[in-house]
Amino acid sequence: MLVTKCVSTNEKGHLTIGGADALELAEKFGTPLYVYSEDKIRQKIREFILSVNKYYNGNGLVVYASKAFCCKEMCRICKQENIGIDVVSGGELYTALSVDFPAKKIVFHGNNKTYDELTAAVENGVGRIIVDNKTELKKLNEIAANLGKTAGIMLRIKPGIDAHTHDFIKTGQIDSKFGFALETGEAMDAVKAALDMPNLKLRGLHCHIGSQIFDIAPFELAAKVMLEFFRDIKLETGVELEELNLGGGFGIKYLKKDYHEPYAEYIKNVSAVVSSFSHELGIKTPFILIEPGRSIVGVAGTTLYTVGSVKKIPDIRTYVSVDGGMADNPRYALYRSDYEIVCANRAEEDRTETVTVAGKCCESGDLIQENTKLQPVKSGDILAVLSTGAYNYSMASNYNRIARPPVIMVKDGEARVVVKRETYEQITANDI
Ligand code: LLP
Repeated sequence: MLVTKCVSTNEKGHLTIGGADALELAEKFGTPLYVYSEDKIRQKIREFILSVNKYYNGNGLVVYASKAFCCKEMCRICKQENIGIDVVSGGELYTALSVDFPAKKIVFHGNNKTYDELTAAVENGVGRIIVDNKTELKKLNEIAANLGKTAGIMLRIKPGIDAHTHDFIKTGQIDSKFGFALETGEAMDAVKAALDMPNLKLRGLHCHIGSQIFDIAPFELAAKVMLEFFRDIKLETGVELEELNLGGGFGIKYLKKDYHEPYAEYIKNVSAVVSSFSHELGIKTPFILIEPGRSIVGVAGTTLYTVGSVKKIPDIRTYVSVDGGMADNPRYALYRSDYEIVCANRAEEDRTETVTVAGKCCESGDLIQENTKLQPVKSGDILAVLSTGAYNYSMASNYNRIARPPVIMVKDGEARVVVKRETYEQITANDI
């Protein structure tokens, strides 16, 4: 049994992804190769939409956090599915706009957006700019005034929740570079300042408590903390804010031992808390936004590699080296992230060996997984690293001047290229 139903095996004993034979994909498109199941992406998006409709009367918007995986085709899928997109840089904004994604449904994040990025957001009519700090608040008001426009904004708040996740990706606590602190009064000051700015329209508040969270409780707690602040704002200023953005962070299953409730359960529970608690506090039930990234694309993606050498170091370990590595997937090097790996051409055989899968970069830490179970493999075999759809392609680099792999999408067994393989000409294009 493999960790995700996105992959299966066929009569040849080969791994299949979205109905396509992984070996044929590797043969046709080369390796390393990012492969996505389009149906799985759409299914996850619909799971969130249906849950918001069912449990919150549709009074909300699902906003895909494109930092997890951004390319034009992904933005087109979001457009077709009628959801919003969260962008966090001028580049992600540009990508979304380049497929005519409706700017009103774009949410623009970032703790240090540049003048040019903010200008592009206002000029293009981005629906919600999430303001992170006072400097940005002033700058944005000036930009909007100069352009003769009013910018829709939300303020990013630190609700001070410890979501028990990896330290590097925990952002809701007070010691975070993101957002305004509640405890110090900074958040209330920012709300008052925003309400006084003529070219800004404060639509509501945002929080994001971390990533790869399995528990539902921290989301419920965050919603409560935020709603109490809505109430405080009403009491102090008389203004009732309309929107509550609860961010993303819903966990996915990387290994069989990982467990999370269906996403509908998160939405059901959080919706119930928001409805009942806002009623209890005597404030309007807000329009909600959620920003899932990993939970939409994570399990839909698989990376294929070709095995080069297999190096057995007696009594120490066996290194299986592949033709990619930290340049296309830096997550093990960065976070010691777990992945399940399977040999695509012997997918039905037992994984009897314990090996370390290493990349080809000139760096000892360039590993995809240490001491992982794998079928006995030899040079030329194809390895599939599962659940690599989130933060892999989007975090890829050209370290060692390695060209980024292409991205293909599979639908009904048919594959199409959505991002081409990078060439050496492209890598050297900006060199003088
Ligand atoms: N909204 C905001 C404001 C965020 O900062 C993030 C992720 C999301 C939504 C989406 O979170 P998700 O649903 O994907 O968990 N590079 C790390 C993850 C960094 C997440 C940053 N923010 C990794 O590879 O695990």
